[in-house]
Amino acid sequence: MERARSNRRACNAQTAIAWIDGLRLTMRKQNRLKPLNFRSNYELVRGYGEELAVASAATVDDCGLITLRTVEDPRGSLTIAEGEQDIPFSIRRVYYLYDVPQGGARGGHAHRNLHQVLVAVTGGFDVVLDDGAVRRRLRLQDPRTALHILPGVWREMDRFTENAVCVVLASELYEASDYLRDYQEFLVWRRS
Ligand code: TYD
Repeated sequence: MERARSNRRACNAQTAIAWIDGLRLTMRKQNRLKPLNFRSNYELVRGYGEELAVASAATVDDCGLITLRTVEDPRGSLTIAEGEQDIPFSIRRVYYLYDVPQGGARGGHAHRNLHQVLVAVTGGFDVVLDDGAVRRRLRLQDPRTALHILPGVWREMDRFTENAVCVVLASELYEASDYLRDYQEFLVWRRS
């Protein structure tokens, strides 16, 4: 607990925190094109992940939006997501969702240990986050804005635009046993 607290102080010293749709938005204070040390923020989240995964206690409020570095020039825009730099974990897997039919939904599960970051690289969709006590809906529709979902938080995605592409950066390889797919079981697990 003490480590998480000191990490939180370190994070606040380096980053500006704002709130959008009730979610934490972490922005770099320094020049966005400089290589930046995001280590304190990574440690903050890793500290939470270790403690909260054991306690099944990560909350919706622990999930946050990250503004990714973007380089814009006359040739177009380029957005960067480096593991342990822009993204608060080491990226072990990438997958993407697309061609989601109108009215379709994805997700509908939580993970015991996995950290994920979602980005709407094209189009948009809603994400519902649920920690068993608080349920919150937000919309992702900007390729520069990433959503970090911690282990233990239930997520559902819906209201996809026709062209939506959701890129998912994950902290671990695919592991079926890491999933909680039944909402009632999820609630029991949360309270265990
Ligand atoms: P699923 O978890 O239902 O997708 P989502 O939660 O994003 O809507 O996954 C659909 C199928 O794909 C399921 O059979 C598991 C498989 N899958 C993999 O084999 N590897 C992966 O990395 C992922 C994410 C899914």
